[in-house]
Amino acid sequence: MYEELHIPVMVEEATSLLVAKPDGFYVDGTLGTGGHAEAILRRGGERLSYLGIDRDPAAIEIARRRLAPFGERARIVQGNFRDLARFAAGRPADGVLLDLGISSLQLADGTRGFSYMTDGPLDMAMGPDGRSVRELLATAEERELGRIVREYGEERRYRAVAREIVRRRSREELATTAALRDCAASVAPAADRFGTLSRVFQALRIWANGELEHLAAALPDAVSALAPGGRIVVISYHSLEDRIVKRFLRQEERGCVCPADFPQCRCGRAPRLRLVVRRALRPAPEEIERNTRARSARLRAGERVPNESA
Ligand SMILES: C[S@@+](CC[C@H](N)C(=O)[O-])C[C@H]1O[C@@H](n2cnc3c(N)ncnc32)[C@H](O)[C@@H]1O
Repeated sequence: MYEELHIPVMVEEATSLLVAKPDGFYVDGTLGTGGHAEAILRRGGERLSYLGIDRDPAAIEIARRRLAPFGERARIVQGNFRDLARFAAGRPADGVLLDLGISSLQLADGTRGFSYMTDGPLDMAMGPDGRSVRELLATAEERELGRIVREYGEERRYRAVAREIVRRRSREELATTAALRDCAASVAPAADRFGTLSRVFQALRIWANGELEHLAAALPDAVSALAPGGRIVVISYHSLEDRIVKRFLRQEERGCVCPADFPQCRCGRAPRLRLVVRRALRPAPEEIERNTRARSARLRAGERVPNESA
């Protein structure tokens, strides 16, 4: 039944890399409907404990029901994974999982405004801490709209999209997904219409939820929260996220942040991670066949280095 709401991606790869201690403590920053959570809890022993975080109250409600059989071993909180260290309350984690982006549950709910496939109010907030897309489209300057579409959607027609939003809103407010869809579709050639729509909707969703900022803020804290030997596993779904994760993991593996032309290190930062996956893992073709959402997934992982001085 839960798989109808959201099919978790790369479950075997993620949990086999993550769960090394049957009685460990595992933090999942993106609980969603609890697919990875259930796999983590089943993989460990009776003494494994789990903390799941999600900003979306609808996902939390479903996950609570799903994880009820695990009793107190599964703790669930509604919040932002940016505050992961605070929720873990100083308890060193044996693993941290981030399965980024949006869930099928969120995408399928027309009332939440994430998808151009269903008509609904232009909302796109994953949780109460999100920003209003409707307000952005009504008030932002054309230049700012263009920047958001270019930066978060990597859409090359960003100028035309922004110009069209400003032109249309002078006649009536863009308040629904259908209005935004018509607007963005009108500046795209037929052959690239769906691509443009996906990129524009992605851009606005990323902006509304501060997705890249929260990710960049959460990663260093997630590593700090790890016990020596503990692992961080991150699954991302587009190049903007994956770039942040990849650079971060490489930086943590290197340690030193001194400019390349410094004859010797002055920052004194020691490596905190060892990469356990050198090149991002991709889902097996059979998984992509079963679940098209897995198509763009990239999994990266690092392990906290014991006895480092940082
Ligand atoms: C891809 S889904 C996770 C699915 C989950 N692994 C499962 O198996 O059901 C991503 C989830 O992360 C949540 N999310 C995204 N950004 C978040 C953030 N900054 N803090 C907390 N939750 C976040 C979304 O609300 C969504 O439910």
